[in-house]
Amino acid sequence: MLIPTITIDGPVASGKGTVARAVAHALGFHLLDSGAIYRAFAFSCRQKSIDILNYKDLADEAKVLSLEFVGENVLLNGTDATADIRSETVGMLASKLSAISDVRAGLLERQRAFACEPGLVADGRDMGTVVFPDATLKIYLTATADVRGSRRFGQLSDASHADAATSKLDDVIAQIRSRDQQDKSRAIAPLKPAKEAIVIDNARQTKQETIDSILALWSIQTRSS
Ligand code: DC
Repeated sequence: MLIPTITIDGPVASGKGTVARAVAHALGFHLLDSGAIYRAFAFSCRQKSIDILNYKDLADEAKVLSLEFVGENVLLNGTDATADIRSETVGMLASKLSAISDVRAGLLERQRAFACEPGLVADGRDMGTVVFPDATLKIYLTATADVRGSRRFGQLSDASHADAATSKLDDVIAQIRSRDQQDKSRAIAPLKPAKEAIVIDNARQTKQETIDSILALWSIQTRSS
């Protein structure tokens, strides 16, 4: 049976994580933060010093990765890795490793297993195009790199962030452009809107406005089906 699913794809710092969490909460649905899976995988590979050219070991690690989501926390091998996986270094490594087909294949079923009653909100890069092609509603959330960079820079003023002390606005925007380029240009599951996706440019929206517009689209979609 098809589980009601909303996919929210988009580039780094498009706000999809916060929006997905709020939409899932409002509907009482499960949440999949697929980026956290790729980040935890990258962090684990780094901890284990797995060579990024050793595809066999990378694929094995994707299969055995011990990962648990507890509320907003990510437990890797039973240890809280929530803050560690949020650094830009880990994000960039996740972006590099996610271009490898064996890695994506190794993490695919783990993501699909999140689809349970009463429904799922899944955020990432290929949720609507690859992981949940039959999703009920597909959203692609975006804004210019400058807007996303300014937002990310604002978040970094929070001293608890892994990159808090080291960032300048221009560097943050440059990092965002470089990650966009990497995620959009890879051969497998590149970042792009699914054919049926509704594209929301949220540059001029508050988070709440974006959340409300997705909830409104959901209610139209489910009323008409
Ligand atoms: O969304 P994020 O910044 O936490 O994701 C980190 C990286 O993981 C992203 O740059 C590319 C990769 N990723 C992916 O390839 N597919 C996904 N569905 C989610 C993330």
